[in-house]
Amino acid sequence: MPSYAYFRKQFVPLSEAKIGVMTHALHYGTGVFEGIRGNWNSVQKQIYLFRLKQHYERLHNGCRVLKINLSYTVDELCQITVELVERCGFQEDIYIRPLAYKSSEALGVRLHDLDDDFLIFAVPWGPYLPDKARCSISSWRRPDDNVIPPQVKVTGIYINNAFAKTEAVENGFDEAIMLAPDGHISEGTGENIFLVIDGKLVTPASYNSILMGITRQTVIELARNELGIETIERQIVRSELYTAEECFLTGTAAHVTPVAEIDRRVIGNGEVGEITEKLQKIYSEVIRGNNRKYLSWCTPVYKK
Ligand SMILES: Cc1ncc(COP(=O)(O)O)c(C=O)c1O
Repeated sequence: MPSYAYFRKQFVPLSEAKIGVMTHALHYGTGVFEGIRGNWNSVQKQIYLFRLKQHYERLHNGCRVLKINLSYTVDELCQITVELVERCGFQEDIYIRPLAYKSSEALGVRLHDLDDDFLIFAVPWGPYLPDKARCSISSWRRPDDNVIPPQVKVTGIYINNAFAKTEAVENGFDEAIMLAPDGHISEGTGENIFLVIDGKLVTPASYNSILMGITRQTVIELARNELGIETIERQIVRSELYTAEECFLTGTAAHVTPVAEIDRRVIGNGEVGEITEKLQKIYSEVIRGNNRKYLSWCTPVYKK
């Protein structure tokens, strides 16, 4: 299947989208990215892009923080993305990566007096984590908002997450759970975290150095609307993870992934928890365009 990129204002084969070795963003982490899922519905022969608009609104916010002049509106970005995926003609689950970045081939640490550019590519991408994840608390912490703003997807911030992920994998785990600078639970390296405590959902709050995940928001809404379960957003201490009834991670790449074990302590009975399983099922129907109530979150790619 040929893959295309939107690069320097045109659609080109992915293999032709290349940047120079001096590109500013490559050296100083001066880029903002998104991760968007296209979910294949094999019955309808359709790919649905999930919450496209929200992803591009977050990208716009990131560009403001990085002083990147993104010369496309949210609607234009949505249209370009649909056209890109349509050209690729995928018939499987995919992942879309938009990137706005400082494109000047220039040296010097700064945000000013640099050109900006924007690209998107799309690739097939299946499950990101195993069916049941084994996690460990990382020795690497999330940054404080005054060090690097954790609420936008700035490329440079992700070195911290890369440290954490590799530490976890090299120690035999699937994913790391990072703490906020003050020691409270923050999130996974590419996911938000939820616990079930006394039958309610509990998740770190915006002030716990988390990325305000779009999947997180989706799960909060689905739990409330479909299961009548409220989510408490608050500080969480490490020992609450070990004693929670259930635990799961949420993210565009990871969807809703149950956590079976943290720091070699079994969560619940080590199987997928009851509430987690229900949310997984609802979420999976919603993102594939199978639940009419939430169709406004799903952008179909192929014209019928
Ligand atoms: C650090 C981090 N936290 C959380 C998330 C989950 O966010 P979303 O659900 O918007 O994909 C992501 C992925 O984008 C992430 O990179």
